[in-house]
Amino acid sequence: MEESGCSREEVLSLLAGHRARDVPHNHIFSSMCTVPHDLAVTAHELFVSTNLGDPGLYPGTADIERKLIASLGDLLQGKNVGGYATSGGTESNLQAIRIAKKLHPSAKPNIVVPASAHFSFDKTSDILGLEMRLAPYKEGGYTVDTDAMAELIDENTVAVAAVAGTTEYGVIDDVVNVAALAREHDIWCHVDAAFGGLVIPFMKNPAPFDFAVDGVSSITLDPHKMGMSTIPCGTLLLRDPEHMKLLSVDSPYLTMKTSFTLTGTRPGADVAGAYAVLKHLGRAGFRDIVSGCMENTRRLVAGMEAFGYKTVLDPVMNLAAFHAAEIPDGWKVSRTRAGHLRFVMMPHVTRDVVEAFLEDVSRLH
Ligand SMILES: Cc1ncc(COP(=O)(O)O)c(C=O)c1O
Repeated sequence: MEESGCSREEVLSLLAGHRARDVPHNHIFSSMCTVPHDLAVTAHELFVSTNLGDPGLYPGTADIERKLIASLGDLLQGKNVGGYATSGGTESNLQAIRIAKKLHPSAKPNIVVPASAHFSFDKTSDILGLEMRLAPYKEGGYTVDTDAMAELIDENTVAVAAVAGTTEYGVIDDVVNVAALAREHDIWCHVDAAFGGLVIPFMKNPAPFDFAVDGVSSITLDPHKMGMSTIPCGTLLLRDPEHMKLLSVDSPYLTMKTSFTLTGTRPGADVAGAYAVLKHLGRAGFRDIVSGCMENTRRLVAGMEAFGYKTVLDPVMNLAAFHAAEIPDGWKVSRTRAGHLRFVMMPHVTRDVVEAFLEDVSRLH
């Protein structure tokens, strides 16, 4: 750090130089985050100095967090759902499994998760000292084989998980059967809907995945993905708000004498941003966004198929996967563990972006 500072202009110019090196969103197909809604940015600015780590100082902001959780709980068909705004899906998954572990003390605890589980479950298992058992995919697909999952459960299993909107293929596990296993063994059932939580409710004839499914204990849903909030904003939703108490530790020097969140200091800005988007768009607005993303997904698939690219599966959500082949330079497309090309069709991937990409693909042929 230098002794004397630079002018605002110099600093801003320095920052602009760094920002210019980032990949522009209109070339990113590989991300589950997107450009935040402009109202989220405005709300973020308004609340930028708030700290939900000490909620007694910011009762207005804390109330927005409660409203955010209540709105999402209602969307996911829960009643008086508990939970809080996290830093994202990783924290939500970790905290859900932490509750499950506390409910079922065991000398050698394990969790049984689908093969598709996001790597946040690896971190969770490492941090909490759990064995992570991977249940394989169903024959010929990418959702979990619930019979195989059943085989992996034993008396030391503290939780099972399902994914509603998998990271790699955007498919939805059979949550009804996973939750039935949890009921049968009297263990926790966590649904990771970090991506799907703000997509599936707005699809036609959605697969059951939320609190309407008997046995679902907790759900991860990230507003910083399809909720177009500013980053970082995840949520952990609990069917029974009382379970939050299992996470609590004393926080003697703060306005609230107990803390149940993983991080201490926590932004209120992203929470205000997420809530602003929900209030502004309403269900109808989200339905439009999701239907636009699905339309663009279909257009991408049709365009790619015309050039001979083959899809791995018919897209269930706004995510398309293709058998690997060449793609034009300059575009960010990720690959799944199996090597398939993976396109996440987020709101920033507009029709113009898809057409520009297909135009570049056409030059390869
Ligand atoms: C299904 C799923 N769960 C959890 C996560 C982790 O979320 P975050 O990166 O916000 O911690 C992701 C990230 O893509 C995800 O796709």
